[in-house]
Amino acid sequence: MTPIGLFYGTNTGFTMLVAELIVKEFNEVAPNLVTVYEVDRENLKQMQAYDYLIVGCPTWNVGQLQDDWDALYTQIDDLDLTGKKLAMFGLGDQYGYPDNYCDAIGILGEKFAERGAELVGFTPAEGYEFSHSLGVKDGQFMGLALDEENESEKTPERVVNWIWQLVEEFDLVEYLEPVV
Ligand SMILES: Cc1cc2nc3c(=O)[nH]c(=O)nc-3n(C[C@H](O)[C@H](O)[C@H](O)COP(=O)(O)O)c2cc1C
Repeated sequence: MTPIGLFYGTNTGFTMLVAELIVKEFNEVAPNLVTVYEVDRENLKQMQAYDYLIVGCPTWNVGQLQDDWDALYTQIDDLDLTGKKLAMFGLGDQYGYPDNYCDAIGILGEKFAERGAELVGFTPAEGYEFSHSLGVKDGQFMGLALDEENESEKTPERVVNWIWQLVEEFDLVEYLEPVV
């Protein structure tokens, strides 16, 4: 059993690729801490088994959740995530959908917070071009916003920086790979 569970949904595969990148980069920093799930009706309740959660959801259909998360949304009400730290990441298209960029980060993040999870992994909204997002609170994304449509070249650095942030906010310093 690893301390971190990563649960993602994807319609066209990009979020899966980012989930794989997150695990790869996490392993560079602190190996074997993350178990990955493509979320479904069966494994959703497994979220309760982890102290630390990473959740990935792209925004679809103009400000809506990805299909699997959308279908599972009401089932989240049955979860008790009290005491868990949860970090959201989301994919979107800031130029195609500037009024709804990465809305899913906020929609799903608020839902998990209602179930008792403490949201961590917030990042600055500067450096992106969009006009509105439900994923932004007090000038920050409530997680990590990524845009594989327009600036995939920025994703690796954003992911690595975020992982170091999570190591601190999840308090995983004891698991760090020793520097030789
Ligand atoms: C029909 C359609 C609607 C979309 N709606 C939004 C949106 O409202 N907000 C946003 O930020 N991105 C939106 N996107 C962009 C997707 O989030 C983006 O392509 C993402 O990388 C898809 O991730 P996936 O491959 O994991 O499903 C939309 C894309 C399509 C094709």
